[in-house]
Amino acid sequence: MRFPDKVKLVEVGPRDGLQNEKQTIPVEVKLALVNRLSEAGFPNIEAASFVSPKWVPQMATSTELMASIQRRPGTLYSALVPNMKGFEAALAARADEVVIFGAASEAFSQKNINCSIAESIERFREVAIAAKANGLRLRGSISCALGCPYQGEVQPEAVADVARRMRDLGCDEIDIADTIGVGTAFKVQQVFEHVATVFPLERLAGHFHDTYGQALANIYAALSSGVAIFHASVAGLGGCPYAKGATGNVATEDVLYLLDGLGISTGVDLNAVVDAGQFISQQLGRPSASRAGNAIAARRSPEHTA
Ligand code: HMG
Ligand code: MG
Repeated sequence: MRFPDKVKLVEVGPRDGLQNEKQTIPVEVKLALVNRLSEAGFPNIEAASFVSPKWVPQMATSTELMASIQRRPGTLYSALVPNMKGFEAALAARADEVVIFGAASEAFSQKNINCSIAESIERFREVAIAAKANGLRLRGSISCALGCPYQGEVQPEAVADVARRMRDLGCDEIDIADTIGVGTAFKVQQVFEHVATVFPLERLAGHFHDTYGQALANIYAALSSGVAIFHASVAGLGGCPYAKGATGNVATEDVLYLLDGLGISTGVDLNAVVDAGQFISQQLGRPSASRAGNAIAARRSPEHTA
């Protein structure tokens, strides 16, 4: 076991969390959420996504949102970009980091970005060159690293192969994403072990959805393999529109509670994240999916006597 002392926690709620919401969320609400998350002290917030509004209508207000957020020094604001059109919009919106997103499964690549894995890498090449030329950080995200809703099993070798291609494009960081939350702890360790043969472990991130209730166990397994970057979504918001049945990312409040208990520092204020989680849940008109968030909020309420 070689647990890290520090973890970089990337808040993906405003993007991965909100992209799947059926109701149109006013940009003012998104803005209030991002500002609250900034105040909570995250080093990195995935705030926006410059994709086709026909494919993901909820992200259509990304330009407006990025123009209005109160940027906290020390926080990087990231945006997903599938192609040069997305890159130009992200650059104009002053994103600090652009995220190219591919998949370890051919079927998912087709459904999500309408091209094969090889074609996606060619599209990303231009984006990567432009990102470097403009001094932007470049992150690569690999969907379906632990299973695919269309193809089923995904081999760790297939994940490492995409990671190698993203490394060759110049990615500063690579996300291993369990898009549909099917992974279990040993498989997670195997995948990181494979990918670490082609890309430095300290720049790999775990992006876990909690569909099968495995996300915290998977984070613990990844931590014990030395992974020190994780993504999480406030109130457990989220899902991918092209991964039917997939629920939200692991809730940020739950991850923070785990990390605090393990003595691992993040620089993020759990209480402020609980407030942000309660705020967005109220706006969406449903309870937060964060167990720790709800427990902490209940303990604070006046009728609590314990
Ligand atoms: P396409 O239809 O093949 O693209 O879609 P196209 O180049 O033929 O363009 C079609 C139309 O889209 C054109 O408009 C373009 O201008 C427009 P029209 O002429 O018809 O009016 N367009 C754009 N508009 C705005 N921004 C752009 C852009 N690009 C083209 N960047 C495309 C290909 C990649 C664009 C499309 O498939 C797409 O936008 N996909 C995005 C899907 C998506 O956002 N999925 C969710 C994010 S991934 C995720 O959640 C997984 C992750 O969390 C990790 C995990 O958990 O696995 C990251
Ligand atoms: Mg995701």
